[in-house]
Amino acid sequence: MLRYLTAGEAHGPALIGIMDGFPAGVKIDKDYVAKSLARRRTVPGRSSRQTQETDSFYISCGLYKNTTTGAPVAVMLKNVSQFAVLDPSSVPRPGHADLAGMLKYGISASAVIRERASARETAVRTALGAFCVRLLELLNINITSRVIKLGHLRSEDAGTILRELEQAAKSGRSLGGVLEVKAENLPVGLGSHAQWDRRLPSRLAAQLMGLNGVKGVEFGSGFELAAMHGEEALDFFKKGNPLKRLTNLAGGLEGGMTNGMPLVLRAAVRPVPGQGSPVRSIDLKTGKTAVAAPGRSDITAVFAAAVIAEHLIAFELADAVLEKFGGDSLKEIKIRVDAWRRQTSKLLRGR
Ligand SMILES: Cc1cc2nc3c(=O)[nH]c(=O)nc-3n(C[C@H](O)[C@H](O)[C@H](O)COP(=O)(O)O)c2cc1C
Repeated sequence: MLRYLTAGEAHGPALIGIMDGFPAGVKIDKDYVAKSLARRRTVPGRSSRQTQETDSFYISCGLYKNTTTGAPVAVMLKNVSQFAVLDPSSVPRPGHADLAGMLKYGISASAVIRERASARETAVRTALGAFCVRLLELLNINITSRVIKLGHLRSEDAGTILRELEQAAKSGRSLGGVLEVKAENLPVGLGSHAQWDRRLPSRLAAQLMGLNGVKGVEFGSGFELAAMHGEEALDFFKKGNPLKRLTNLAGGLEGGMTNGMPLVLRAAVRPVPGQGSPVRSIDLKTGKTAVAAPGRSDITAVFAAAVIAEHLIAFELADAVLEKFGGDSLKEIKIRVDAWRRQTSKLLRGR
């Protein structure tokens, strides 16, 4: 079983991530992980903090001569922007964990809650996810992500997107959007129909819903399927050798398992609650109306969220591969995956 935990605050000394159950024999160097972090950091829509953060990190264990050892992998990521003292304000920001967290943990300073709730933590999840992207890559599974909608705008033209972002920044508005993650060449049969928590979509959705600001998830044609008639919503088989599908409305998942078609999933990301200007709130100490300080804020999180989501989905897919094929080293896993691919392609060919 693959699992991970993270620790650390947004403006503390560092963020820490530990991943256990990762196989041995996966060649990966620091640059590979650094590229994932740079992608997360340098996408459009981010605040000035991203120009300060260098995401310098240290892989403290689980790696020997740029090859994983099978021991837990630990990553420590330094924060350049650190706060020696936290703002003592007891004014929670609407749209954030502040209010519920302050009440739940009996904490008077909203910054204490904000520090851990911040999406800065997703940097270390991305670093751990890079190991999973690499494992999948070595098994010839390709995972990508993109933004398909920014606010109301559907465009892949960088110029149009940047103009929309500039306008939003000028007017102090934040924007939401929709991200898409795609994984190709997945073995058939990852996940299972046999139990609710073994269904792959439930596990993938949990990863996406665990990402700050994600408010909805769909697989394949998702919500559009709800308006179709039964036959319209089927991915019919196409006679041939090998067996193909005419469509991929299900997004590569049927009955809780991968079906050999590309996995396609999307997530709706809310506009970041932080605005360029102060927001109305209540001071919990006095009970009086107050304003919550705006702080630095991204214009949109959707581009960064797409990169992060790709890495979270890679983690879940790597776990599903390990569950189906077992194996302690890449070599063992690869032999089993290749044998399974040969076997299933024969069956799909009707032999
Ligand atoms: C990569 C990323 C960056 C984010 N940046 C900000 C930000 O700058 N300002 C902000 O108010 N929210 C930001 N968010 C969204 C908040 O973290 C999130 O909406 C908030 O913690 C409340 O959680 P919830 O929306 O999941 O309920 C970001 C989210 C992600 C994934």
